[in-house]
Amino acid sequence: MTTSSVNNSIITDIALAPEGHLKIDWASAHMPVLNQIRAQFEQEQPFKGLKVTISLHLEAKTAYLAKVVQAGGADVTITGSNPLSTQDDVCAALVEDGITVFAKYNPEPAEYKALLVKALETKPDLIIDDGGDLVSILHAERPDLQEGIRGGAEETTTGILRLKAMEKDGSLKFPMVAVNDAYCKYLFDNRYGTGQSVFDGINRTTNLVVAGKTVVVVGYGWCGKGVAMRAKGLGANVIVTEIDAIKAVEAYMDGFTVMPMSEAAKLGELFITVTGNKDVIRGEHYEVMKNGAILSNAGHFDVEFNKPELAALSSGIRTVRRNIEEYKLKDGRSIYVLAEGRLVNLAAGDGHPAEIMDMTFALQAIALKYVNDEYKSIGSKVVNVPYELDELVARTKLESLGIGIDSLTEEQKAYLDSWTEH
Ligand code: NAI
Repeated sequence: MTTSSVNNSIITDIALAPEGHLKIDWASAHMPVLNQIRAQFEQEQPFKGLKVTISLHLEAKTAYLAKVVQAGGADVTITGSNPLSTQDDVCAALVEDGITVFAKYNPEPAEYKALLVKALETKPDLIIDDGGDLVSILHAERPDLQEGIRGGAEETTTGILRLKAMEKDGSLKFPMVAVNDAYCKYLFDNRYGTGQSVFDGINRTTNLVVAGKTVVVVGYGWCGKGVAMRAKGLGANVIVTEIDAIKAVEAYMDGFTVMPMSEAAKLGELFITVTGNKDVIRGEHYEVMKNGAILSNAGHFDVEFNKPELAALSSGIRTVRRNIEEYKLKDGRSIYVLAEGRLVNLAAGDGHPAEIMDMTFALQAIALKYVNDEYKSIGSKVVNVPYELDELVARTKLESLGIGIDSLTEEQKAYLDSWTEH
């Protein structure tokens, strides 16, 4: 693989920029909320003179967020958040647009890590993180780079769990906004975004039918609900596995078959893990799986199904199609793994639809401004996006869709506030 070093950036090839610009233009044309924020930022310059480092799945929608932050006056550096989700043409386009990029598709693990560190060596004032990689480097490996950091925003469920653990044991050193926990994030991105894009990734990678297949969805959180809903819509027989009794009842009432993985493993033809947990599918489950079963993951890290245990049961591993590896088991069965067990919708697809990321990235942009304005009063804590900002994103979205809603009359407000009126 070649590497270009242009304007301090490290990317694969600057010549790929034209295709990247087209992709970013297409995405931004479908992101009206972010466009409105860009117009505001251009006027108000909230990040004037500040350095911002972003680590996100580096494709077109993310690139547009980087450009919006840049439009707000920031000097922006961006890196990936997964070795397989970086798109080289998008990186090249960003470099041409004056953003420093340390990212390329599928670097070796050590190089991937080195690129993240380089993005932090720019000594940012603010960060946007996805899954906690930047925060983890800043706290565990390079605390020397913490100095000057005002705070940041975290994109996903997994990252927030880690931040809360750090806050609890007192190790978090600056404020982080939990963007994932905003309504306009998880209700739409995790549910509808993951639901649609997971099947986009699986379908384009396998070119196989979903109708009639037994699909096992592991985890019935916000992402799992979306994936199960779309699997059902495509005609699959859907099984849900859970460890949470309430979510399991919810899945049952939503019309899905619920059972433990020890049972589901025998029946599934396509498995999709979305738990944020590790080893939810492991050796004992591979032992009973059908020949030809396909494993995919949409949770943040590639640990949801245990690949080393699958490899230990196998006599060989070969790539049978782009993003599909066949594990040939010693007993003759084949089990297929999509995108090396990394997020299938990003590593083997283009991620969530632009209209969904419009809301998520609008929240990111607003959260970054919020933490910059308030970092002194927040302190080293994990905080939510304030409700009025969350609601503002929904209102702007409705406006862009030309949808109006009602508002309370004075009488209704009084009625809702009263406990005596019937
Ligand atoms: P969530 O917390 O709403 O749901 C996770 C669910 O998994 C919970 O209901 C939990 O009880 C269940 N679970 C945990 N261990 C389990 C086990 N051993 N077996 C079965 N179920 C188990 O989280 P959410 O928001 O659905 O996110 C899930 C993962 O997806 C996280 O890693 C998150 O970062 C990631 N994510 C991925 C996206 C993508 O584009 N692929 C988008 C958004 C989030």
